[in-house]
Amino acid sequence: MNRSDAVELHLERFDRARHDRGSFDCGVDALNTYLKTSLGQQHRRDVTRGYVLADDRGRVAGFFTLSAGLLRVGAIPGGHGFPVRMPLPTTLLGRLAVDLAFRGRGLGERMLVEALRLAVETSEIVASAVIEVDAKDESARAFYQNYGFQSLPDDREHMYLPMATARKVFEEGR
Ligand SMILES: CC(C)(COP(=O)(O)OP(=O)(O)OC[C@H]1O[C@@H](n2cnc3c(N)ncnc32)[C@H](O)[C@@H]1OP(=O)(O)O)[C@@H](O)C(=O)NCCC(=O)NCCS
Repeated sequence: MNRSDAVELHLERFDRARHDRGSFDCGVDALNTYLKTSLGQQHRRDVTRGYVLADDRGRVAGFFTLSAGLLRVGAIPGGHGFPVRMPLPTTLLGRLAVDLAFRGRGLGERMLVEALRLAVETSEIVASAVIEVDAKDESARAFYQNYGFQSLPDDREHMYLPMATARKVFEEGR
């Protein structure tokens, strides 16, 4: 049996000492290297928060990162009621990836929903107007588009979802 068929995965805040990232492979070298060499440092320095889906032994099957961001004045066209002369505070979903052995069974969606839930909850304490993602390529862009993210007019792979839209999804689910 494949490891991925049997394991129960838990969503946990990244812990450098507990989480085993050595064998993680999502097929994108930059993301593999980031998880293995940069996330720990960024986490410790309060630059980025990491979250992982891990098995009981701490082996990582997927991860995502959240941090605070700022969108420049006028980056988002009218229509959402945002002030047009102010930069917008954002929650940046910087990276999200699933190990190749676990693809196509809903883990990407599970992590995205969790990231949106965390973004909505924290925005009640520190305001954030949109969730932004850096889709990196066309395939990732298609993934995020499925969930309502739209591209910025001048950068297709830089996408956003208004916080109010995400909040509504969770309010309707209650
Ligand atoms: C994108 C990624 C996270 C999806 O993970 P996954 O666990 O295979 O996705 P899921 O099984 O949760 O799929 C959820 C839905 O998204 C769709 N989907 C998955 N990958 C997709 C893609 N690349 N393009 C379009 N849709 C995609 C699935 O078909 C599914 O839709 P459905 O329920 O209507 O069938 C994964 O392919 C990955 O890690 N890619 C490499 C890293 C990457 O590009 N990350 C994003 C930018 S940082």
